[in-house]
Amino acid sequence: MSLKNEIPILTIDGPSGVGKGTIAKIIAQKTKWNLLDSGAIYRIFAFLIDSNNINIKDLPALEKIAKNINIKFVAKKNSDLVDIYLDNNDISSAIRNEKIGILASKIAVIPEIRKYLLIIQKNFIKEPGLVADGRDMGTTVFPNAKFKIFLTATETIRANRRLKQLQKQNIKSIISDVLKGIKERDERDYSRKHSPLKQAQDALIVDTTDLTINEVVAKVMKIIEF
Ligand code: DC
Repeated sequence: MSLKNEIPILTIDGPSGVGKGTIAKIIAQKTKWNLLDSGAIYRIFAFLIDSNNINIKDLPALEKIAKNINIKFVAKKNSDLVDIYLDNNDISSAIRNEKIGILASKIAVIPEIRKYLLIIQKNFIKEPGLVADGRDMGTTVFPNAKFKIFLTATETIRANRRLKQLQKQNIKSIISDVLKGIKERDERDYSRKHSPLKQAQDALIVDTTDLTINEVVAKVMKIIEF
């Protein structure tokens, strides 16, 4: 077995607004494991396509972008999110808005894009461990992960959580728009042909509807025996 296979991986999958990012960040801090926010990678890709006016059918241009992406996640003390750096520039707020989220979910249906981004994601495996959050971490990207969790919560709860997060970032939104965005994204993420949002067969489902962040974290820490 190669060393990479022995590094413990915790995958946290689930739909938009379920709290994957928040939970993954806290677990990564507690365990000192590396963190992969795979949604941010799709968002950065969407942001680059959008800001460079690239046609999503122009595969050579997309591949070129994917090959040159240089991403870093930095955990911030007083925030429940991580800062995201592209080529040493903090682009967190430029990618954490509904426009880029929706574009990310649209480009995520393109198999070539998923293939390019798969390599970037696998490169996050490093000692002493990895916490990876997204939609297909336990099914496609890290199918051999030692620990797999699938988080769920009702649509309304998820929309409210997302709204609070946007408000914290001073991004003006209304609940009906956020709920509509969540429903559209769920529909696309669950139904896409390639690597859809799906619970891995060996993943443990945690319904977070009535749980606090601390309660979810405690459950996850128990699962990974920390
Ligand atoms: O988790 P997020 O909202 O930042 O993700 C944005 C979009 O990226 C999501 O709607 C679908 C896509 N995505 C994906 O297809 N696979 C992943 N592992 C993570 C995100």
